[in-house]
Amino acid sequence: MAIERTLSIIKPDATARNITGKIIDKLESAGLRVVAQKRAKWSQADAEAFYAVHKERPFFNDLVAFMTSGPIVLQVLEGEGAVAKNREVMGATNPADAADGTIRKDFAENIERNSVHGSDSVENAANEIAQCFKAEEIVG
Ligand code: TYD
Repeated sequence: MAIERTLSIIKPDATARNITGKIIDKLESAGLRVVAQKRAKWSQADAEAFYAVHKERPFFNDLVAFMTSGPIVLQVLEGEGAVAKNREVMGATNPADAADGTIRKDFAENIERNSVHGSDSVENAANEIAQCFKAEEIVG
């Protein structure tokens, strides 16, 4: 399988509970390597731009409010099949449906406060990484 890069975000519910290390441990244990990392606090414009694909969905305003409610940790993860592997380690969007041992099963509070974001395709990963990181911030 090809070496890929994907965008991971540790969301405000997880930074609030001081569990970023526990989440990164699960990602690294799955064979994903952190090649870029920064903490940020998104503005409303940042969150609206990132989730623009969801702007007609009923949960959009709440999602933007949540994602701007506290600090986040943005990461680029690298590894074999990194996009799908990250999604597997994250678990289902709704923690009630997430498999045992996944980040969302172990840490998410509910479908909105679900601890992590991960790109859902190689194409979206490239776009999201470019949106969030300068090329020189990624050190493989
Ligand atoms: P989505 O891209 O469907 O899920 P994922 O994060 O697993 O790729 O949705 C983006 C985020 O929107 C999701 O992580 C949490 C939020 N969301 C809700 O708050 N309610 C919902 O019903 C859905 C589908 C998503």
